[in-house]
Amino acid sequence: MNIIFLGAPGAGKGTQAEIVAQKFNIPTISTGNIIREALKTGTEMGLKAKSYIESGKLVPDEVVIGIIKERLEKGDCGNGFILDGFPRTIPQAEALDAMGIVIDKVVDIEVPDECIMERMTGRRVCGSCGASYHLIFKKPAQDGICDSCGAELVQRKDDAPDTVADRLSVYHEQTEPLKSYYSDKNRLGIVDGLGDVADITERVLSVLEDKA
Ligand code: AP5
Repeated sequence: MNIIFLGAPGAGKGTQAEIVAQKFNIPTISTGNIIREALKTGTEMGLKAKSYIESGKLVPDEVVIGIIKERLEKGDCGNGFILDGFPRTIPQAEALDAMGIVIDKVVDIEVPDECIMERMTGRRVCGSCGASYHLIFKKPAQDGICDSCGAELVQRKDDAPDTVADRLSVYHEQTEPLKSYYSDKNRLGIVDGLGDVADITERVLSVLEDKA
């Protein structure tokens, strides 16, 4: 099954994508993670993306479309995949269509803006393996230390309050129109993103069972 997770920054796309990917045994492709990895290793693409990602702006379409094209050609996508954070603009969605990729379901996780700030500013990520935590909602066993690999937890630069506000306005302006794009294609399923992670997973799975 080919799935897209749509939603505002901090809506819980990454959290849900990871759970669903394990259940269906398909890979999650997160453009945010791919770009952050390139930034960490200092590749040419990472250097190009740095100023955009750190200021909460979208990386130019041609860069992310190139990333996705290359990633979808890998063998592990044969039985399906989850796109987490792509597409984020209409031209990106059109590029996916032009690649001949058929999307079975688009899951839109809805969380009001006023709840996003608490989620984002409380998020901490492992500087080494990338695992994600939250100061209140998903605490590590030992403060500031990753449960998986023991490395230090850090705050993403783009999780600073001002940058979160910028990311939210970019979302409303450039990404939200994708809801109509996929609704017109009868592919959109809307999920209430408030509540326990496990309850939200149940809602996501029921939208996926209702595959158009
Ligand atoms: P990206 O990494 O994709 O950021 P995002 O979409 O803003 O996603 P986040 O990881 O911030 O949020 P999420 O919805 O995955 O939430 P999560 O599950 O982590 O992109 C970063 C940047 O890269 C962009 O700004 C852009 O510059 C660039 N980029 C990436 N893709 C691009 C593209 N296609 N085009 C152009 N540029 C692109 O949850 C957030 C927090 O909330 C966590 O701490 C979690 O523990 C907590 N949480 C989750 N669920 C719950 C719950 N139910 N209750 C309470 N807390 C919860």
